[in-house]
Order: sequence, then C-alpha cells, then structure tokens
Amino acid sequence: MTALKARVVEVVHETADARSLVLEPAEGDRSRFTYRPGQFLTVRVPVENGWAARCYSLCSSPLTDDRLKVTVKRVAGGLGSNWICDNVTAGDVLEVLRPAGTFTPSSLDDDLLLVAGGSGITPVMSILKSCLAGGSGTVTLLYANRDERSVIFADELRALTERHPGRLTVVHILESVQGLPTPAVLRSLAAPYTGRQAFVCGPGVFMDLVTDTFTGLGMRVHVERFFSLEGDPFEEPEPADEPAAGGDAGEIEVEMDGETRTVPWPKSELLLDALRRAGVDAPFSCREGSCAACACVVVEGEAVMDANTVLDEQDLADGLILACQARPVTDRLKITYDG
Ligand code: FES
Repeated sequence: MTALKARVVEVVHETADARSLVLEPAEGDRSRFTYRPGQFLTVRVPVENGWAARCYSLCSSPLTDDRLKVTVKRVAGGLGSNWICDNVTAGDVLEVLRPAGTFTPSSLDDDLLLVAGGSGITPVMSILKSCLAGGSGTVTLLYANRDERSVIFADELRALTERHPGRLTVVHILESVQGLPTPAVLRSLAAPYTGRQAFVCGPGVFMDLVTDTFTGLGMRVHVERFFSLEGDPFEEPEPADEPAAGGDAGEIEVEMDGETRTVPWPKSELLLDALRRAGVDAPFSCREGSCAACACVVVEGEAVMDANTVLDEQDLADGLILACQARPVTDRLKITYDG
C-alpha cells in the first residue's frame, strides 16, 4: 500500500555532477502519481545496513510532461545522491512514495518571482513550466550558480525564454563572474517584483539570505528545504490497537483525489495514522513534522500539532496542518488534500 514502483526509462546527464531520472509509473500505480508543480518524490535507497529514504523534487510539469522527472545532484558524502548518480540506469525500478509537498503556487495565473540556487532549480523548473503552459502570469527567475558549466537546464531555459519572450525573464547570477550574491544585489534584483510572491529553493545559507532580504521588502516568500530523513518511511508502523468506544471517539471527513470519505479519528491518534488505518492513501514522508509531505487544509473544525518546523504563519493562517502531527480539538473535522 505504501510504496509505489516507478521504472527509470532514461538517465539524463545534465551537468558533470547532476543526473535526471525520467520515470514511468508501474501499471496500476499511475493514478497515485498525480502531482502539483513543485512537489517532490521520496525515493528508497539502499545503504550499508538496510534502507534509507531521500526526497527529490520533480522538475517535470504535470501540465506539459508525459513522464515524471527528478533531478539529483551529487552531495559530498551524500548516500542517496551518489548512489543514484553512480548506480541507477535505464530499466531499473525504484520504490517511491506518492508525490507530496506544499512548495506549489496557489494559482498558476499569478505573477511570480522564482529564485533558485544550483540544484534548487528542480522544483522551480516545474513551477516555471507549469505557469507558462497553464497560467497567464509573468515569471522572473533569478538563478544562482557557481559558473556557467554548473547551470542545470540551461538549454531548456533558453528555449522557454524564446518561446515566451513577454512572460519569462531569466537572470543568471554566476559566482565566477559576479561573486556570491549579496543582500544589496538581491534587493536591487527583486525591487521591480516586490508585489509578487517568491518561491525559493537552494542551499540553506542561500535561502536564508534570500528570505531575510525579501521579507525585508515585505514579500511573501515560500521556501523548499530538504534534509536527510532519520527513519525509513517505507516501513509503515503497525497501527495502534483499535481505540475503545466512548469519549475518545471522533470523526473526520476527508477529501482526496476528488473523493470524500468519513473515517473515525480517535482523540488519542495522530491524523495520519487514523487516515492510513482507515485505508486512505494520505501522503507522507518524514513523519517528524519537517517536510510538509502530509500537509492538508482544515476546512471545518480544529486540530493542534505536536510539532511543526516547516509551515509558516501564513500557511497556518491558510488552514494548513501536518497530518503526521495533528490531534483533534473538535469532535469532527473536515479536511482536504485537493486544495
Ligand atoms: S510527513 Fe513530513 S511533515 Fe508530516
């Protein structure tokens, strides 16, 4: 139930240290691979004593690409990225979790400021292509790299700029030419776009710099941060014993993949566990409150979270909660994953 299978149909050498995997869902799993621009896949990778899991953003667009594509850049000492770059070839079958994440624009018609550092271009590329193909807004991309040879998707970006001259502007920031970006440089680059929402992905230090600078300009900033998962989310925990009937009982109405179901949600149980116990294919990855794979929107009722290191105040104001950390306050809640 948990893991999906995807066959690697092609491995693309993007740069010296980045590979893209073009993926074809296994027959029967296709409907569980639907995704929104900017979401990620959790991939199971072998390690010395068993298995680990790593999250990789989809760079493909659900609007323009028939197949899913993730791009992986080597990280010094990185178990997952080096295993993928060294070992995965066309024909291999990967185990993955269904696409998830909240790094996705609420409307493809908005004007956006996208900012990528290095391989942080991956989810940004998915958003960019989707906005151009399915929306009406204009998109500006600020793209920082070490040097020209490390620019992933250079040709594709050039072609998109030529195809959408009035709607896409790409500004390259090369450390080898301009040096590392400074707050002053970022402020002047963002100045014409302060009315837009910004989507930022890249190394942690870079995202912190961009976020501090842009929030100082009054902008709404969405960031995508990845980290190594501690556990193996492919090993689903045993559900707790059936809760006793009585005062612990509650229920939740859940909308997902266009269907609505009502399932029990005992007050002693976390929302994600209650949903999966009831057979709802709710997405998740870390189960630690850190990745937002499990995020859903509360439509009615109230819940509280044990932990949250990923949703910001605006997300919470928008009604988002993390199912892996949520406990009910009211006896009945209504949530949606289809927002
Ligand atoms: S599964 Fe990662 S935050 Fe819930």
